Amino acid sequence: MYNIKKLYGFQQGQEFFQLELEDGQTKIINIWDYTTLYQYPKLYEKLIVEQLECNVYSALETLLSQVKNIDRWRILDVACGSGLMGKYLKQQSSIEIELLVGIDILPAALTALKRDNPHIYDQTYLVGQYNSDRLKKCEFNCIIFSAAANHLDMQDYQDYLNLLSNHAYILFNLTNHIQDERRVKILRWMNENFELCCNMVYTHRKLMNDSTVEHEVFLYRK
Ligand SMILES: C[S@@+](CC[C@H](N)C(=O)[O-])C[C@H]1O[C@@H](n2cnc3c(N)ncnc32)[C@H](O)[C@@H]1O
Repeated sequence: MYNIKKLYGFQQGQEFFQLELEDGQTKIINIWDYTTLYQYPKLYEKLIVEQLECNVYSALETLLSQVKNIDRWRILDVACGSGLMGKYLKQQSSIEIELLVGIDILPAALTALKRDNPHIYDQTYLVGQYNSDRLKKCEFNCIIFSAAANHLDMQDYQDYLNLLSNHAYILFNLTNHIQDERRVKILRWMNENFELCCNMVYTHRKLMNDSTVEHEVFLYRK
């Protein structure tokens, strides 16, 4: 169907790879060109999980599974992409999920999610096409931002966190560069408004030049 050929790049977001299609045509694609990535069945998973050995799903799950006061999770997965976080939680975790709702900004993401990971999410919505009052009634006790920090601004975090019940858990990963501007801003706001439950540094994934990059996962409580 297609082959992932050469990989290039040594900085997150500035990496490219060559995709060879069935008819011999080749394309050079940037790793953050999600509209193109999601066009090809399971390409995002093959690239990120298989080739680049991304550990974000297991790292986030490690923190979530340490919570002992929730029997049934009602999870809002923001920037859900093709649904790999939900897939990991449903297939490789023992946590009990009562409700799983995904939101993404790209129609191509939700098309990929339904094609590549059907029956994992109970509901999915495009940004701007959901009713906030209706989502608030879902009584989410957890929100996950998996590999989303580079794509969301502070206002997005504030708006999404308003959809949660009080005492809900907030789970996300950030780069482990402690002076990264985005990381500093997000953590300052989180620390001012929410309670930190736990955090853990982990190897996020390989870069396309085969070196690795570290991230940190955080669990806060509203
Ligand atoms: C690196 S992918 C992560 C996908 C998925 N969470 C995972 O870990 O496999 C980032 C996703 O964020 C989405 N995104 C970017 N801006 C967004 C926003 N403002 N709200 C929701 N999703 C957004 C992109 O469309 C893309 O699917």
